Amino acid sequence: MKVLLTGGTGFIGSHTAVCLIESGHTAVLYDNLSNSKPEVVDAIETITGARPAFVEGDIRDGAKLVETLKAYEIDAVIHFAGLKAVGESVEKPLLYYDNNIAGTVTLLQAMKECGVNKLIFSSSSTVYGTPVSLPLTEDMPTGTPTNPYGRTKLMIEEILRDLCEAQPEFAAVCLRYFNPIGAHDSGLIGEDPNGIPNNLLPYVARVASGKLEYVRVFGDDYPTPDGTGVRDYIHVVDLARGHVDALTYAENHAGWEAINLGTGRGSSVLEVIAAFEKACGKKLPYKVLQRRAGDIAANWCCPDKAEKLLGWKAQYGIAEMCSSSWKFERMHTQAK
Ligand code: NAD
Ligand code: UD1
Repeated sequence: MKVLLTGGTGFIGSHTAVCLIESGHTAVLYDNLSNSKPEVVDAIETITGARPAFVEGDIRDGAKLVETLKAYEIDAVIHFAGLKAVGESVEKPLLYYDNNIAGTVTLLQAMKECGVNKLIFSSSSTVYGTPVSLPLTEDMPTGTPTNPYGRTKLMIEEILRDLCEAQPEFAAVCLRYFNPIGAHDSGLIGEDPNGIPNNLLPYVARVASGKLEYVRVFGDDYPTPDGTGVRDYIHVVDLARGHVDALTYAENHAGWEAINLGTGRGSSVLEVIAAFEKACGKKLPYKVLQRRAGDIAANWCCPDKAEKLLGWKAQYGIAEMCSSSWKFERMHTQAK
């Protein structure tokens, strides 16, 4: 298929582009570069031997989207483009609603105009809100996300559900990611947030490379085995593969689906630090601080629906996630 990847030069989009190309699809990347760099296209070419087309554009620019969908004869869209910083979304809600919601509506209108009716959407476990019980399954009711970023994910899922009701030929697969981490094993693409990272893994990686002094452990008094927060970390390469499988599913099934992508296993903050110490071969200093506002104690998913509908199952564990993340951090530090 010829696939448009909005947000295609970002962390998850770039790994998915590699997977798509390796599976024989054509990938066209569409990104406004607000949180990624064009050099990613070179890295994808180095890894796969094929250079994907890149269009610098914004998902709120309907005319450019229509032009791109037509020029590349696009069959399906994987929609990664969006802003994702939780704290920033609390400070600038209108920016998030404009970029994520208005941008998605513009994209859907452009797709309608061009007769493209297959979409894979980057959703998040945040749509479940505070879990009532674990593991999380897709038939559980969605909850109340605690911030505007999370609400954009839930609203977009609902918009897609309405669209599928109105246009029965439309296929929308909402992939609810758990905690994507790790990097491609080449070390050429990975996650490189600007400034001080909010998320655990990039923070730990920077402590390992000496850019930050110690890991801040946000709370050790949660009702979890070691008292620190538990999450279902998923290797970004496994996640990327899930998109290729979702595309095959959307090709054969119209309608709306939500599917968890996780391993089904939770790891605590201290377990992640220990796994990273093994990967980098040194002790990593940490300090226990207060809980971070808005954090939940634990979440992990039941990944059975992904296996049943997509034939997808995570292959990598926390050891590979940490070693690939460490390789990317080292190569990146040397390159700078
Ligand atoms: P990322 O920031 O690396 O990638 C997103 C890309 O979208 C960036 O390259 C950015 O430049 C682009 N973009 C943003 N707004 C745009 C716009 N208006 N027009 C065109 N391009 C635009 O983030 P990621 O981690 O790769 O996440 C991809 C998607 O997955 C996002 O929608 C995110 O909310 C979702 N998601 C991510 C996680 C995670 O932990 N990384 C978890 C759940 C869901
Ligand atoms: C966060 C977002 C979530 C978003 C996801 C991916 C919040 C409240 N949630 O999820 O909406 O979809 O990122 O972008 O921000 N931790 C530390 N020290 C750190 C960082 C994190 O101890 O420096 C702990 C956290 O308390 C948590 C775990 O590590 O227990 C994972 O945190 P993080 O990587 O930020 O992901 P989430 O909070 O699960």
